Amino acid sequence: MSNNVKIGKSDVVTSGLGLGTNKVGGHNLFDNLNDEDGYAVVREALDSGISLLDTAYVYGLGRSEEIIGDVLQDYDRSKVVIATKAAQDPNNDLQINNSPEFLKQAVDDALARLKTDYIDIFYIHFPDENTPKNEAVKALNEVKKTGKIRAIGVSNFSPEQIEEANADGLVDIVEDNYSLVHREAEISEFPYLQANNISFVPFFPLASGLLTGKYGAEEGAKFDQFSADEYYNISQAIEQVRKIAEAKQATVTQVVLAWYLQNPDISVVIPGARTSDQVKSNVSATKVSLTAPEYDQIDQLFQDFK
Ligand SMILES: NC(=O)c1ccc[n+]([C@@H]2O[C@H](COP(=O)([O-])OP(=O)(O)OC[C@H]3O[C@@H](n4cnc5c(N)ncnc54)[C@H](OP(=O)(O)O)[C@@H]3O)[C@@H](O)[C@H]2O)c1
Repeated sequence: MSNNVKIGKSDVVTSGLGLGTNKVGGHNLFDNLNDEDGYAVVREALDSGISLLDTAYVYGLGRSEEIIGDVLQDYDRSKVVIATKAAQDPNNDLQINNSPEFLKQAVDDALARLKTDYIDIFYIHFPDENTPKNEAVKALNEVKKTGKIRAIGVSNFSPEQIEEANADGLVDIVEDNYSLVHREAEISEFPYLQANNISFVPFFPLASGLLTGKYGAEEGAKFDQFSADEYYNISQAIEQVRKIAEAKQATVTQVVLAWYLQNPDISVVIPGARTSDQVKSNVSATKVSLTAPEYDQIDQLFQDFK
């Protein structure tokens, strides 16, 4: 896997395909998870050449970070890019907190769970109501100067909040909801991010599994953010993607991931996985190459979601 993505103004470099780990230890968020699968997912990713692991305190209230920390002991730390996030205060009912004191403590707590002495990318997971956004980022910049974190990110910030956070030019990366069926960021965020050398990482790139093509026409109720008409249109578009995939002996998921990997607006794509077999299959997306007409066709198929 090529190592060619630079994160914002930082010196963090990673490959374009990462791993989302909210199903690694994320027992508070998803049913029927077991730690054994979580360990296997992380190992499979690192064995396959994935470098960036996207985690957060709130995935299992530290459990995802702990599992990653355990696995890291068997790998070359310098080849792994760890991205984690904090904002939910463990000592205050998970209330969102961006105060400098909270963020500094959150970095130390994450370092302990990850059993490492630096975090490559540290995100403020959600904005709070009170802390000026640039003050929160400045606090993280102080931490950055100590070497405990290498790049600063924000997540779930509105476009205005991103601009406020980046008032001193210190934000390296933004992580937000984006996929072929959720494309508002193309208009609301991408122009500002590009103009300010800020990387973009989409979360829910597979729309929580919908864009794997594994759900049938009758399963629309699982995705209630879409109307029945929208779900029908998405299903139709996915069938067109399936045709492209079959011609390449690839899966729908791999073609969707290949589209993100070829999209210059996207820095790293972090599909989540429940099993190591999903990771294995998703890694093969790096071998799928879309022609310009195929890339454009997929873009057009999902035009309505811009
Ligand atoms: N910053 C934030 O606030 C935020 C919010 C959400 C997520 N995230 C991050 O973004 C990552 C990605 O989002 P996500 O994991 O929620 O959703 P996603 O990447 O859109 O979908 C991942 C899910 O799709 C299914 N899947 C993946 N590969 C598959 C394959 N090859 N075949 C069949 N099914 C497959 C799995 O679920 P099933 O097996 O259960 O179907 C997997 O958990 C997360 O893991 C997390 O790191 C961040």
